[in-house]
Amino acid sequence: MKILFIGDIVGRLGRVAIASLLPTIKRGDNISLCIANSDNIAGGRGVTAQTLREVQNAQVDFFTSGDHIFDIKGFDNDIKNLPFIVRPANFTADSPGNEYGILDLGKLGRFGIVSLLGRTFIKTNSECPFRTIDRVLSELERESLSGIFVDFHAEATSEKVAMGYYLDGRVTALVGTHTHIPTADCRILPKGTAFVSDIGMTGALNAVLGVKKEIVINNFVSSMQKKFLWEDVGEAIFSSVVIDYNEKKGRVLSIKRMDKVFKNN
Ligand SMILES: [Fe+2]
Repeated sequence: MKILFIGDIVGRLGRVAIASLLPTIKRGDNISLCIANSDNIAGGRGVTAQTLREVQNAQVDFFTSGDHIFDIKGFDNDIKNLPFIVRPANFTADSPGNEYGILDLGKLGRFGIVSLLGRTFIKTNSECPFRTIDRVLSELERESLSGIFVDFHAEATSEKVAMGYYLDGRVTALVGTHTHIPTADCRILPKGTAFVSDIGMTGALNAVLGVKKEIVINNFVSSMQKKFLWEDVGEAIFSSVVIDYNEKKGRVLSIKRMDKVFKNN
């Protein structure tokens, strides 16, 4: 089976790119499972039920998240009725939302999906992601799953590479998100786990991590700081990885980047 993992969907342009490209990609590349990071899906920062449903209609099966998941008012309540998204498992125990998701794909099997948040250079208060994933994996052991996919939403490449080795042989794939910049280190780790430090983002191409470039340049050059506005016109980048997985043998066959430019006319 093939699993498509899409990096951080940023704002309206990211959602438009998904709606335009994904149905064809899923059919053409025979994708059985599509997971996407939703941390910036609404307006560039945060998540809403409406934007999740919009992208779900474009055939994303499940959403991971990150530090911005509860930035938009009301989503802490809405998430309780949304079984297709997970919040970072290492958020503190009083946080709403599920620590992990289980997706039943019939004959292909049942798959576990986990979001984790890094702590290096990230201000959000969270528990240790390493100790948390130990606990989550011990809970998932009882579920007789055909695969486990973990999104590590983290800033530091060192923390992500360390987590890759920590989980090598224990999960099907550990993919990084959050920086919005794709890395060129897709590989299968020594004990069989598919790994990439960062998938990159899906959203405005001619912008700084999705934010209007003039604003970010101003904020580096001037002491007069301007509020971020997300770019929502022009070309978009679609950043993803495709994992080829033999779910019967529990063996990853390959992990490859799939990056596309979407011309939004
Ligand atoms: Fe993030």
